[in-house]
Amino acid sequence: MIVIKTNRFILRPFQKGDEQSLVKNINNKKIYEATLRIPYPYRLQDANKYIDKCLKVILQNKPKSLSLAIEIDQQVVGGIGLDHIEKHQAELGYWLGENYWGKGIITEAAKLLTEFGFKKLGLARIYAYVYPSNKASMRVLQKNGFTREGFLRKNVIKKGRLLDSYLFAKVVG
Ligand SMILES: CC(C)(COP(=O)(O)OP(=O)(O)OC[C@H]1O[C@@H](n2cnc3c(N)ncnc32)[C@H](O)[C@@H]1OP(=O)(O)O)[C@@H](O)C(=O)NCCC(=O)NCCS
Repeated sequence: MIVIKTNRFILRPFQKGDEQSLVKNINNKKIYEATLRIPYPYRLQDANKYIDKCLKVILQNKPKSLSLAIEIDQQVVGGIGLDHIEKHQAELGYWLGENYWGKGIITEAAKLLTEFGFKKLGLARIYAYVYPSNKASMRVLQKNGFTREGFLRKNVIKKGRLLDSYLFAKVVG
């Protein structure tokens, strides 16, 4: 089980009991707008479903995703993870409760998780998709040594609309 403790927060798997603080911090239209799979409104049943899924994935032999809670004062204030773990690569994703924005938390969490991905999971490439309007997320990636590799036109469908994305990636070495 992965647990990474810093002076400010703990990265650890989601667990039963996280539901209330997860809902409190993730249920935000701005988080919904900036991401692809997070619903809004985000209800207790969404949290239950998500945590059940995480608990199942953790038991798998070679899980295709790794989802970690960002914990501060025994509350889940954010989440960060690697998805689509395939051979040597994986997709990085994250969100943070708005009360905690602008303190460098995701920059630090992304650094820890990318290091873990390269060193412990043996990945060679970690990539992320970002909507062009999401300057804060692009800054997080740039501060972590990710470089912009492309502009993907009409890359995703959200609310029935086709949206562009930037592709960022970091590779080992
Ligand atoms: C994006 C997000 C994860 C950033 O988390 P955070 O902990 O606040 O980020 P950090 O404090 O580590 O870094 C943010 C950086 O963006 C900068 N920034 C914030 N808003 C900005 C803006 N509108 N324009 C330019 N830069 C901006 C900050 O100044 C900071 O850079 P700096 O350290 O050089 O000053 C958080 O805002 C969030 O959860 N957003 C909604 C969900 C989301 O966007 N997820 C990612 C989808 S790709």
